[in-house]
Amino acid sequence: MDKTHLVDEITGHRRMRRNRKADWTRRLVQENRLTVDDLIWPIFIVPGTGIVDPIAAMPGVNRMSVDKAVEAVKEAADLGIPAIATFPDIEMALRDETGSNSLVANNLINQATAAFKKAVPNIGIITDVALDPFTSHGHDGILRDGIIVNDETVDQIVRAAVMQADAGADIIAPSEMMDGRIGAIRRGLDAAGHQDVGIMSYATKFSSGFYGPYREAINTSGLLKGDKNSYYISPANGTEAVRDAALDVEEGADMLMVKPGIAYLDICWRIKEAFGLPVFAYQVSGEYTQIKAAAMNGWIDGERVMMETLLCFKRAGCDGILSYFAMDVAKKLAKNG
Ligand code: PBG
Repeated sequence: MDKTHLVDEITGHRRMRRNRKADWTRRLVQENRLTVDDLIWPIFIVPGTGIVDPIAAMPGVNRMSVDKAVEAVKEAADLGIPAIATFPDIEMALRDETGSNSLVANNLINQATAAFKKAVPNIGIITDVALDPFTSHGHDGILRDGIIVNDETVDQIVRAAVMQADAGADIIAPSEMMDGRIGAIRRGLDAAGHQDVGIMSYATKFSSGFYGPYREAINTSGLLKGDKNSYYISPANGTEAVRDAALDVEEGADMLMVKPGIAYLDICWRIKEAFGLPVFAYQVSGEYTQIKAAAMNGWIDGERVMMETLLCFKRAGCDGILSYFAMDVAKKLAKNG
């Protein structure tokens, strides 16, 4: 063979492009795939009936009253989405210093859970026990003398978790990053006869600017005093995040979550490698909004970037993704067969 090209000296017989040459070779060597089974759909619930209220900072995402949410959850189940994650936008009048509405058995989140369980029994229901939707200061825990008090908060979220399980929640996902919460919730659930209710720990939740649109969605942005740096992990710290996840594993977490998602793929990989538990990434509100905003300006192909980001979570070791795109992705996957 004529060695007329410089590249021959280096490449020789090693040509990566052979496996990329046709659609069939590319399909054959594809390492990761996104399927509907990988999706968890986060939804926002408001009080009332007949309400579908668009969230300005999250184009395409709505707050829904329970009746409307039931219809949407039915649709999600029909598309094959395995689970939803529910977040309530609690009436301002019901928010207080300690988030006491979290301990009301038929509060908004528990009403929603009970309605979903009844109408759509075959979809998994994941609920959060953080206090931020319920507090007048927007923090995830009880605020006393300027400090988010750990142990008292844990006592309260354990009680809230048991009530959520009583209402029909299948998985409790605590997002408030208090120390010792996983073990305490496990003991609380077991003592109440909820051995089958799982715990998906927000094991590594970072103090992030990407949560902005969510705080608009549940109306906590105007309330929040200060920041959450005394309980969420610094974006600078990867090893600390792995240690934090290790404690949750020891305390009995069934699944681990990394939040936010795309800027934290190294953490997804590290905790998957370290523990082997199911790992989920939360593609949070700000990530969704970035993609939407750029797409709406015609600056990127939104659908393509949506699919690409979710696939990249799989490559980074995630077993699934919480994403506001879940319905769009499920529809797209259904259409493409
Ligand atoms: C707080 C909570 C947050 C999100 C869900 N629950 C973060 C926060 O407000 O600090 C963020 C979700 C998102 O941005 O999509 N417990």
